[in-house]
Amino acid sequence: MEIDRRAFIASLGGVAAVSLMDHEAKAEALEHYMEEQLDQAVAAQGQGQPDKFPTVAEIEAQIETRPYRRGTGGVFVGQRGQNVKKLQPMPAKPTIQDFFELRFAPANHVLQSATRAMKTGMSEEVILACLLHDCVLSLIKPDHGWWGAQLFEPYIPEKSAFAIRYHQTLRFFPDEQAGYEYPDQYYRTFGHDYVPPQYIQDTYKMLKNHKWYMEPRLVTVNDLYAFDPNAKVSIDPFQDIIGRHFKQPKEGLGFDNSPSAHMWRTLSRPDSPL
Ligand SMILES: [Fe+2]
Ligand SMILES: [Fe+2]
Repeated sequence: MEIDRRAFIASLGGVAAVSLMDHEAKAEALEHYMEEQLDQAVAAQGQGQPDKFPTVAEIEAQIETRPYRRGTGGVFVGQRGQNVKKLQPMPAKPTIQDFFELRFAPANHVLQSATRAMKTGMSEEVILACLLHDCVLSLIKPDHGWWGAQLFEPYIPEKSAFAIRYHQTLRFFPDEQAGYEYPDQYYRTFGHDYVPPQYIQDTYKMLKNHKWYMEPRLVTVNDLYAFDPNAKVSIDPFQDIIGRHFKQPKEGLGFDNSPSAHMWRTLSRPDSPL
């Protein structure tokens, strides 16, 4: 496989970042990069040929080939079959920025989605929703729209929480007018013959007539899967929006007795046995 050296170095954060890595870390990063490129090449071959995507039955047959379940949150399982890494402890009064840096990192997907939302002139509520929409995947994956909304609800505008809760549902339903197609990624992840469960269909019916339909819809429109290794994203362009719309508790996330405080604590200490 041919390696685009520049793209590879950029994907690691540039020459300066690479120079800080030891030999083993570099070798490991290269291996991961090649795997990702391979996945993308395989995916590209399957484009436009739905019959090349797996079936629901084939995906189900993979369940017993793994030592973990697919719904396990990202902080609980090693990446690509590797052992988990020791996590840096959180500061005593952690902020949303601390969680981005220490628990959601690298967070490329949400940062790229929010960057796109900002470039296309979305409202601040929608940009914030894009920035936070998949962060809860570090904790848990099934029903991540509902879990994510619950995690952030005490701290963000109602419209942003609504958008996070329901983007999960709208991902299954195309809306040409809004510029959202059913993603190939979902044929791959769920199987090309997948039918969303009844509660998702019922939720969609409710959303179609809801006055805030466009809030979660715009999250799906900005929900990018194409990871661009050359895109430099950071949380910095969003500091003002966070400042205006994220009610940072003075005790720190996890210690303010909010309805989701325990979820933040679990993210802080995922190695705790109980
Ligand atoms: Fe999502
Ligand atoms: Fe997403």
